[in-house]
Amino acid sequence: MEFKHEPIMLNECIENLSIKKDGIYVDGTIGGAGHSSRIIEKIESGLLIGVDRDLEAIAASKKRLEKYENVKFVHGKHEDIKEHVNGLGYEKVDGILLDLGVSSYQIDEGTRGFSYTKDAPLDMRMDQSEGISAKDIVNTYSKEDLEKIFFEYGEEKFSKKIAEKILKAREEKEINTTYELADIIRAAVPKNAIDSFKRIFQALRIEVNGELKGLKKAICDSVSILNDGGRLCIITFHSLEDRIVKETFLELQGKCTCPKDFPKCVCGFKSYGKVITRKPIIPSEAEQESNSRSRSAKLRVFERVI
Ligand SMILES: C[S@@+](CC[C@H](N)C(=O)[O-])C[C@H]1O[C@@H](n2cnc3c(N)ncnc32)[C@H](O)[C@@H]1O
Repeated sequence: MEFKHEPIMLNECIENLSIKKDGIYVDGTIGGAGHSSRIIEKIESGLLIGVDRDLEAIAASKKRLEKYENVKFVHGKHEDIKEHVNGLGYEKVDGILLDLGVSSYQIDEGTRGFSYTKDAPLDMRMDQSEGISAKDIVNTYSKEDLEKIFFEYGEEKFSKKIAEKILKAREEKEINTTYELADIIRAAVPKNAIDSFKRIFQALRIEVNGELKGLKKAICDSVSILNDGGRLCIITFHSLEDRIVKETFLELQGKCTCPKDFPKCVCGFKSYGKVITRKPIIPSEAEQESNSRSRSAKLRVFERVI
């Protein structure tokens, strides 16, 4: 299947990265190189480093960018960005983009198990070379743990009922496929609760891929390798990710805690730079109209100041 993914807030990302012709830029979630194919057009003597934990994304972006020489690819996680950059022989970079979550390709490609509308083995691993699958989770987690991830990562109000139904179903037989799980959800929720499918699949995907666990490290390590004036742009797709980004940016910006009437700062607070987006940037109405997957997206930007 062709790798199809519409890059979200492309112009807004490019503008905010303020790309220099001779700079080094990292796309920590290169996917189908939607953003990267624009970034690389702007770099002349510079370099683009593309990272993704999904080998199919790496293969697709390599193909899309094959005419360029100044690009290096790394199969790995964005939370290890510092190690990836150092491993290639660089200390600092001039800009980093993280476009979190899954690509349209991963969801639409029928065999990966990300979608409840396509019958496939319950896998959901972005990196199929490691880790536990959604099948392992639904067949081995306790009722309480299932309920907890459905509630915390999916904000699903029928979490308890769905977890109970899963436990009951697996007493009879192992749950192996997306359709089997969808049938269990259907039996646990009212007929009109169609969003429950999306929420449960999202919660499982987040748990399988540890999506929230590495995010703070990814942000702190990214900022630590930025040159003065370099920017980190992050697109999130749900409130849990966005909260981590917003709070970590504020922590990195730092805040003077001296009493207001002190003539100069003595608390010695450390600042790594400034938050550029006090409020997140969201896609234009036209983009939201033409690409429904963009509707929940938020872009936040941090600038390194040394
Ligand atoms: C929304 S897509 C990026 C699409 C890309 N910006 C484009 O325009 O084609 C997210 C990508 O990030 C990858 N990904 C998700 N979590 C990751 C992580 N922790 N480390 C590296 N890549 C990750 C996914 O495999 C997926 O390819």
